[in-house]
Amino acid sequence: MTPSGDDQRVKRVVVGVGGGIAAYKACALIRLLTESGCHVDVVPTEAALRFVGSATFEALSGNPVSTGVFSDVPSVRHVALGQRADLVVVAPATADLLARAASGRADDLLTSTLLTARCPVLLAPAMHTEMWEHPATRRNVDTLRGDGILVMPPASGRLTGADTGAGRLPEPADIARLARLLLDGGGLPWDLAGKHVVVTSGGTREEVDPVRFLGNRSSGKQGHAIAAVAAARGAAVTLVTSSDLPVPAAVDAVHIDSALQLREHTLRAAARADVVIKAAAVADFRPADVATSKLKKGSDSEPAEIRLVRNPDILADLVAARGSGDIPAGCVLVGFAAETGDASGSVLEHGRAKLARKGCDLLVVNEVGRDTTFGQDVNGGWILDAAGGEVLLEQASKDLIAGRILDAVVAMSAAPTGRTAADRTD
Ligand code: CTP
Repeated sequence: MTPSGDDQRVKRVVVGVGGGIAAYKACALIRLLTESGCHVDVVPTEAALRFVGSATFEALSGNPVSTGVFSDVPSVRHVALGQRADLVVVAPATADLLARAASGRADDLLTSTLLTARCPVLLAPAMHTEMWEHPATRRNVDTLRGDGILVMPPASGRLTGADTGAGRLPEPADIARLARLLLDGGGLPWDLAGKHVVVTSGGTREEVDPVRFLGNRSSGKQGHAIAAVAAARGAAVTLVTSSDLPVPAAVDAVHIDSALQLREHTLRAAARADVVIKAAAVADFRPADVATSKLKKGSDSEPAEIRLVRNPDILADLVAARGSGDIPAGCVLVGFAAETGDASGSVLEHGRAKLARKGCDLLVVNEVGRDTTFGQDVNGGWILDAAGGEVLLEQASKDLIAGRILDAVVAMSAAPTGRTAADRTD
């Protein structure tokens, strides 16, 4: 992570640490933030220091650590830290800390900092499942979200002891990813709550024999970014993917290889979807015959040629099935097109023709070449809509681009008939 855009000033991040066993994972988060060039001030609660000592936080951040409002009084730290911060991130945010923050308490340095901060605030909860599901905690989380604070859904999995369930701290890399997005100015509104978003990512692998496949250069990074940002904006996300990238926080992943598997799982998930975003690079063809044992040189199995048959067009199938009972009538369908300009037209012209041919609602068009888009961390292009609207996507991180695509989806879902993606260009 490096500072991006014109604002190269060192970003100031306050990392609050609550008193839970997951406090040790805050160390990895602090390291990720300092390595990305941020100035980090760590503000633990008294209870957090029973799990990790202040020497660790001071060594990792390079800055002094205090917990109460009466240390370093002349510099008025309980006000200054929050006022000067570009971001406050709390990990882990315990049930008690959520309750104190929701009720506006200022009884230690961390809650005072939360009250004085006017920058984005990101809370990463961690607690036992019963505590997370308790009506009091639900109320506190709703209050905090209503105040514009981003509360990540906790991960599910192994908790302190042998017990498992919802309440694990999201991975430090996932928290750092959202922190970077907020620092780079990508908003994370809680506007997809109650929505089911299906995302496909990666390039399909079409089996030739048990060890070989036909593939393409798609890394899956853009689709994964969309899944991560959609989940951070409150959506229930199903990611159907061939990519080996880590599954983002609070995302349900289905791993597939071939276009036929992608089709089966995408159509199944789309049956209850509000949005389907098809970022996967689907192979247009697959081998007609798949060898059951490895093809060997100089043996009877050595192929003279590999005959290909055409794969189904999954996006076209989704468009055709919409409103039929298999896919909800209001489901927003988003396609991707990786294009190169040629003698028959520009990238944008090819994109427009593809949007008309596919019949989806939005098409994200990227210009590709050997060194652009595939595998990179940045992307750019256009979002085209079926009504003729066009939004330019300046080169930006794939997470920021993901946010722009979701903005266009939200605008389209909320728009009266005839409104286009270009109506919301912010
Ligand atoms: N797509 C799909 N099923 C296919 C091929 C493509 O669902 N068999 C989807 C992709 O996921 C993407 C969009 O259609 O969202 C456009 O993909 P692209 O490969 O550019 O489209 P093609 O129809 O294959 O066009 P081209 O002939 O230019 O490759």
